[in-house]
Amino acid sequence: MRIIVAEDRVAASECAADIVERFVRDQRRASLGVATGRTTEALYDELVRRHQHEGLSFAGVDVYLLDEYVGLDPDDPCRFRSVVQRELAQQVDLRRDAVHCPDPDAPDLPRECCRYEHLVRSAPIGLQILGIGFNGHIAFNEPGSAFDSVTRIVALSEQTRSDNAGCFSDGRPVPERAITQGIAAILAATELLLLACGERKAATVAAAVDGPLCEAVPASALQLHASVTVVLDPDAASLL
Ligand code: GLP
Repeated sequence: MRIIVAEDRVAASECAADIVERFVRDQRRASLGVATGRTTEALYDELVRRHQHEGLSFAGVDVYLLDEYVGLDPDDPCRFRSVVQRELAQQVDLRRDAVHCPDPDAPDLPRECCRYEHLVRSAPIGLQILGIGFNGHIAFNEPGSAFDSVTRIVALSEQTRSDNAGCFSDGRPVPERAITQGIAAILAATELLLLACGERKAATVAAAVDGPLCEAVPASALQLHASVTVVLDPDAASLL
């Protein structure tokens, strides 16, 4: 596992953007796995800047979301598909059909989970961008998720729902369920990039990177992967 501690939060986003840029520039067609959250928002801002000012093109890229809430209206701005459209897709030259996501409105959700698992596995993902939840989740694989878990419907923990309440600013409840890629599919990506910033994530990052492999800390599964880069700001790295 390669750990990079950048000078500050901005430098961490730039460093993560360097890794994404190298991946995108290196291939004509690229399958990029994307996460959502406040941390990755800064990364996408930097990628958009590079598209607008430095000619970084996403024309040959397909992006695959890690997860999606169940129970929101199709045009809800808090849907992860809407977030990725807003923060990245609409601001770069991604093809219109290049954003892939589990469909939480599908009539048969277990079948939809199988479809998405198959899609992601056959992509296959070359670089997977990850954030980390305060409770150690990756995507929406909450504590207790098996390391060989596949795409499925999950119940979100109270911790995660309260951490993610910020997007639901008008007091709307955070959905109780989501569809998430499993840990097995995440580990199947060729390369993983985890970005974490802020003191609040320090203990979680330390448990994921230095702690024992355990389902109580889903992100500890990253220790099993042969090619992981963890990019941190000094606060997130403070307990390593
Ligand atoms: C959500 C996403 C995760 C992400 C996490 C971190 O729960 N499902 O993929 O890693 O948020 O979010 P933030 O960067 O806002 O702390």
